[in-house]
Amino acid sequence: MKVTVVGAGNVGATTAHILANKELANEIVLVDIVEGIPQGKALDMYESTPVERTDTRIIGSNGYDETKDSDIVIITAGLPRKPGMSRDDLLAKNAEIVKSVTEQVVAQSPDSILIVVSNPLDVMTYVAYKVSGFEKHRVMGMAGVLDSARFRTFISMELNVSVEDVSAFVLGGHGDSMVPLPRYSTVAGIPLPDLMDKETIDRLVQRTRDGGIEIVNYLKAGSAYYAPASSSVEMAEAIIKDKKRILPSAVWLEGEYNLKDVMVGVPVKLGKKGVEEIVQIKLNPDEQEALNKSAGGVKGMMDKLNL
Ligand code: NAI
Ligand code: 2OP
Repeated sequence: MKVTVVGAGNVGATTAHILANKELANEIVLVDIVEGIPQGKALDMYESTPVERTDTRIIGSNGYDETKDSDIVIITAGLPRKPGMSRDDLLAKNAEIVKSVTEQVVAQSPDSILIVVSNPLDVMTYVAYKVSGFEKHRVMGMAGVLDSARFRTFISMELNVSVEDVSAFVLGGHGDSMVPLPRYSTVAGIPLPDLMDKETIDRLVQRTRDGGIEIVNYLKAGSAYYAPASSSVEMAEAIIKDKKRILPSAVWLEGEYNLKDVMVGVPVKLGKKGVEEIVQIKLNPDEQEALNKSAGGVKGMMDKLNL
């Protein structure tokens, strides 16, 4: 198993480190445009493997020759948000970066599965899908796992219960109009509306929507990366181990959820082929309307790119 991570910044390097510590790949290649950074970080990580007792070779590069025949490529290259910036402010610059990265990745690894992380997430996943020419089951975006993890954390904090017993679903685009679904969020199988009042749920939903900016406002010089890296690895692990996990991911929709020709987050089954199924859950009219609105926002940005 060979995994390439493009972008050796906060998310990319942390992702590579977790992949190595979990021994999910025999070989990890870390790529970045800045000379020395991927080489230095990769060597440093490689030198942690005897201590961690993991047999993973980790190589850093400024080019793509070393990425040849990767099974999975995780794309984190791009600019992160600064205070006052929305994810959408990153659109034009990151589209250029993701386009060029995808072209180079695909030339070396035509059979790979792509997991996109760069923001604005749904639109960047669309860029990778269009530019790669890959079948839709081989291109997906990471956001729903992170947004759900944030919702799960806030539910666990509120109820003082283990995060292990909390599951949650957040659908839609990775933006301010993301769609947390309290009805499908549970603690040990008990639906959230049976455990807390509407006011509390609304507060946690809003904190989830603001989860990214909450971290940006603390860090000032960058955005979140520990939870994003863990979330990216969870998706990669589901594919590597053919686990058939049901995880929210940004995928290309062709009529599912009454949405067509748009890249947006919905629950999918992840296994060795990538997205093996789009899982359709019943939404009530309010939830469907919120998903339509969120997908509409993504589509507006997709159209601006003229791909
Ligand atoms: P960062 O600035 O720490 O790292 C980005 C890296 O990309 C830098 O090392 C930079 O040199 C590199 N890069 C830029 N252009 C490149 C190119 N053409 N080829 C290869 N590498 C290139 O940023 P961070 O925090 O790692 O975030 C990366 C991206 O992921 C951002 O767009 C951020 O908004 C996004 N993000 C998305 C999340 C999600 O839930 N989908 C969560 C967290 C971050
Ligand atoms: C986040 O949600 C910045 O999209 C990134 O933290």
